Amino acid sequence: MIVVAHRGASGYAPENTLAALRPARAYGAHMVEIDVRTTADGEFVAMHDPTPRRTTDVARVFPDRRSWRVSEFTLAKIRRLDAGSWFGRRFAGEPVPTLEGALDTVRASGMGVLVELKVERRDPGMCRRLIACLRADTYWREAIGEGRFILQSFDPFALRAVAASVPGLRVAVLGRAYRRLGLRRIARYAHLINPHHLQVTAPYVRHAHARGLAMFGWTANNEHAIRRLVRDGVDGIITDYPDRIPGDHAFAA
Ligand code: G3P
Ligand code: CA
Repeated sequence: MIVVAHRGASGYAPENTLAALRPARAYGAHMVEIDVRTTADGEFVAMHDPTPRRTTDVARVFPDRRSWRVSEFTLAKIRRLDAGSWFGRRFAGEPVPTLEGALDTVRASGMGVLVELKVERRDPGMCRRLIACLRADTYWREAIGEGRFILQSFDPFALRAVAASVPGLRVAVLGRAYRRLGLRRIARYAHLINPHHLQVTAPYVRHAHARGLAMFGWTANNEHAIRRLVRDGVDGIITDYPDRIPGDHAFAA
């Protein structure tokens, strides 16, 4: 069973920050999940929501802006935000990481990574930049080959575009419960299908496996949800609390 720390160990530290990525391994995670989206100047930053409103002090730092969409901020402006204080005083001043910074931290920990690409609108430029970023780094090229780097998204077009240009890259489709035909189509380019934990059933896992697709369920935080995923036979569990996943965690992505 692969344990994935959702947005880092986000039950214990502010999501999608280095403070949440660093302790994930100690909490028992094999991989961390990070949400990435692009800034106005085309940089990748770790942020779940389309705006930094919920998880930063953007409203205080930029009170006069009409819109707070990440895609309308340059990286320089995003760097001015505090992404830690909302979670707890001891995280005050925690910055919004770039994808590069987040990957460096994951690399130092020795964990694998599940990068979720958040797509606001179809943007071939964004896919090209991500492809260039993945190809440029020897460490991550190797990790891709070993299955320690997985790309996931709700957007199958972006996944297909990136997968076609990065040999060996494993991609995971997020979203609804697919029927057999849908699974067959997904299996042509994807390696995993990652549904919400309430959509997971034992037959669904079996159908996915029969088509060569692994399955990670999200976001299972309580004992009941975790037990059900284990019983249904998923390959991985995505959770804010990696230490709540019982058992012997053999890493085998
Ligand atoms: O890893 C799957 C999960 O992160 C997808 O949903 O909204 O938490 O990004 P969300
Ligand atoms: Ca996510």
